[in-house]
Amino acid sequence: MPRLSKMQRAWWKEAVVYQIYPRSFQDSNGDGIGDIRGIIQRLDYIKSLGIDVVWLNPVYRSPNDDNGYDISDYRNIMAEFGTMEDFDELLAGMHKRGIKLVMDLVVNHSSDEHEWFQQSRQSRDNPYRNFYHWWPAEHGHPPKRWSYFAKNGSAWKYDETTDAYYLHYFSEKQPDLNWENPKLRAEIYDMMHFWFKKGIDGFRMDVITFISKHPGYPEFPERYQGQNMIDIYAQGPRLHEYLQEMNQQVLQHYDIMTVAEGPGTKTDNVLKLVDEDRKELNMSYHFDHQSIGVGERYIVNDDYQNLVKFKKVMTEWDTVFAEKGWNTIYLGNHDFPRMVTRWANDAPKWRARASKMLTTFLLTMRGTPYYYMGDEIGMSNIKFENIEDYKDLMTLNWYHLTQSEGGDVDALIESHKLVGRDNARTPMQWNANENAGFTKGVPWIKINPNHIDVNVEEQQDRSDSELNYFRQMVALRKQKLTLVYGSYELLFPEHQQMFAYLRKLDDETLLIMLNFSEENCAVTLAESLKITGVLQNNCTSLAHEGTSVELLPYQAVICMVDTQS
Ligand code: NOJ
Repeated sequence: MPRLSKMQRAWWKEAVVYQIYPRSFQDSNGDGIGDIRGIIQRLDYIKSLGIDVVWLNPVYRSPNDDNGYDISDYRNIMAEFGTMEDFDELLAGMHKRGIKLVMDLVVNHSSDEHEWFQQSRQSRDNPYRNFYHWWPAEHGHPPKRWSYFAKNGSAWKYDETTDAYYLHYFSEKQPDLNWENPKLRAEIYDMMHFWFKKGIDGFRMDVITFISKHPGYPEFPERYQGQNMIDIYAQGPRLHEYLQEMNQQVLQHYDIMTVAEGPGTKTDNVLKLVDEDRKELNMSYHFDHQSIGVGERYIVNDDYQNLVKFKKVMTEWDTVFAEKGWNTIYLGNHDFPRMVTRWANDAPKWRARASKMLTTFLLTMRGTPYYYMGDEIGMSNIKFENIEDYKDLMTLNWYHLTQSEGGDVDALIESHKLVGRDNARTPMQWNANENAGFTKGVPWIKINPNHIDVNVEEQQDRSDSELNYFRQMVALRKQKLTLVYGSYELLFPEHQQMFAYLRKLDDETLLIMLNFSEENCAVTLAESLKITGVLQNNCTSLAHEGTSVELLPYQAVICMVDTQS
């Protein structure tokens, strides 16, 4: 049995992280856009969840081409979100309540409106020229690079002023920063110190795996085409050198946490980022489960909810960290659909129970859970029918690209109802009133009409609500360190409805059983596992007799077991 006394304990391993997308959390001034004062108004709610850390999506100055992921000033606050005084008050308010604040660090690219880029594009000998990646046009068209958000799919944009192309893995308004340049790196480290000196508790590092580019921008091997290029973007030759330098110069000086957004990271290379002996980052999160059944331009196929594949991915990722490093667990965030729609069932009949089941999953796996705002009340996808309703440049660009190629735009709309990013970006549903208590103005994006039924006010005091279930689960994870540090062992890997696993620490064994389907689901446990009690249940009872157990649709249980082996 694994022993707690042998574990390298850390606050960020025991923490539950709650993610706030500020644009959609709470508007305080009636402009239809969530803001920092809105979050301040909701601090007691956030505290009531029992979570330890808030990850706040970018609040820096930005022209908002990509909702704040295009930063024009790293040391100021976006006007729509408030002022630096508001930010300081938010940080103090969180700390007063014992909540830590993790900010987004977006340094693979800046906005094209950042002073550095304004300078860089002026002349080939400008002192800021090498803060970005340029390809002189006299060398011909640069080798192919794929862009997430470019209108024509290419990550090179021609710029007339200096007759050269600049690189942008994301939109044209998000030029990639050149980490080869030590001056750029020094600026970034300095900016990180600025925020740590204010007292923030860590960074979630946006697409940090892409910061090192292949020198000379060579043609990539044939197998890296289109979206696949992500995998090679994440293998830049100097990535780890940069992160070790960042650790030495900045991170090691503070008691903070770091988590990489790790697109392109695989089970066979992630330890390079998070093996503690290498002194880079604490954690990383991968996209492997999100990619199941989702292809180019996010067109979904039949594998989309393939539970066997999902279990395999989650288990393989757990195994990587069994001895070293530390895992992260998430099912949704601002870049993915609502978890209950994506992984379970948002039909009114099942939505509440299914979302509690997923909450059980997130809070019983090994690894730090990242929980997305609104999931605690079981918010579901809005499923826009019309392209006009979308605000996200990703869906908009892929729609127009598909249209210009004469492709199937209806298929794209159908798929984006399931996986489009805007599904997670509709405002937080506080009450059943007009605009769900989010704003007194016109919301920047439509509000899910189901806020009439699905909202915080309705769930606040109802003991069996999704919201109170989440609070119970957070409390349970705090109380049972087996759920944090215990070993993980998958049962019934090939079962198509049931996700079941054991967590073991010291003398305790917990059995978690989750029915991911809308049918009853029966299994026979090994003779050696004897259920002695039920710690948590999203239904009112559990049908079990000897080694036979039958779960109701979307039922989730955590059982104490005697292991007689
Ligand atoms: C990942 C962020 O989470 C996403 O929202 C953004 O569009 C891209 N990185 C570009 O910064």
